[in-house]
Amino acid sequence: MPEQVPLFLAPMSGVTDVAYRLLAREAGADFTSTEFTAASGLSRQDAKSWAKVETHERESPFIPQIFGGIEDEMVETARLLSKNADTIDLNFGCPAPKVTKTCAGAAMMADPDNLIYMVSRCIEASESPVSVKMRLGANQNALTVLEIAERCAQLGVLRICVHGRTLAQKYRGVADWDMIRKVVEVVEPYGVPVIANGDIVDSRSAASCLEITGAAGLMIGRGAIGDPCIFGRIKSELGWVDFEAPWGNENEAGQKHWAWNRYVELVDEIGGPYAARNMKQHAISFTKGLPGGRELRPHLHAIKDFRLIGEPLNIALEAFSQRRHNTLIVPEAIEAAATASEAGGWRR
Ligand SMILES: Cc1cc2nc3c(=O)[nH]c(=O)nc-3n(C[C@H](O)[C@H](O)[C@H](O)COP(=O)(O)O)c2cc1C
Repeated sequence: MPEQVPLFLAPMSGVTDVAYRLLAREAGADFTSTEFTAASGLSRQDAKSWAKVETHERESPFIPQIFGGIEDEMVETARLLSKNADTIDLNFGCPAPKVTKTCAGAAMMADPDNLIYMVSRCIEASESPVSVKMRLGANQNALTVLEIAERCAQLGVLRICVHGRTLAQKYRGVADWDMIRKVVEVVEPYGVPVIANGDIVDSRSAASCLEITGAAGLMIGRGAIGDPCIFGRIKSELGWVDFEAPWGNENEAGQKHWAWNRYVELVDEIGGPYAARNMKQHAISFTKGLPGGRELRPHLHAIKDFRLIGEPLNIALEAFSQRRHNTLIVPEAIEAAATASEAGGWRR
């Protein structure tokens, strides 16, 4: 069994809202960070951008992630955020064209000097430590990660997270854990922890990734969408004993049932206009992989007031977890969704 390392919920736009981050922590994640937020919006005091970097007193450490291609905006944003943040995470991994066309995100991997200058200025301006999240490079012919990771380590970043794909790959192919191992080796003399990311979906892949990379931590993205209990499962399956599952001995459907209801509670607790903004997407994700999920999804999609989505999914997950249904479809859940979809849309 590999030795215990911290588990990170990957920053994911449209997924890692405050409630989901708190949920992931209760479900076993050790670190969470906000979705990436544009320095252009934050440095201009745009309210919607600031809503994306909201936190909660139980989220400690608080790690907002920012991206941008304009150095002065990144530096100003790091300065502003660092007053309340424990770490500022800089994104050099996003492959979305709307980000890379402004030479931000993973596009910066093609220009190491520029990236390093940006990191050094952010470190200088920030009152809290700075971490970086990067890909392997722009493409297979330009694997800049070793140079960039070493230079970031020399600058004194707090940690380096590496998603084992290039910008050109987007999410295709397989994450290259051997390359992450090389990053671990190159950075080792500086004592900066490297967090491995890409294709960790269960305790087996977590153990193999650790064995291959020798990383100081693991970051999980897609595997935690609709399944935040993945963190606790990995910990208990690998014998990392510090975690007591709040869902007891529940099966996977039971874990989802626990997680969904806890998510709804957390959204309620947090309140405000933005807390529930990803609720519908989360609800859809929670149905993935469940028997009857495909039949339920269109009914959930039809619900306009996303605060009403909690109950139908609760009914379905409860039925699946207790195996009350000998058919794969839960008619009460579909009925509840149909009733909810007749209600009007949500108004701010
Ligand atoms: C829906 C979605 C949104 C994402 N948003 C971000 C983001 O805001 N910041 C970031 O650094 N990476 C983002 N990523 C990339 C993930 O953090 C992670 O690096 C990637 O999914 C690989 O890990 P995985 O194989 O565990 O999913 C996103 C990925 C997905 C699927």
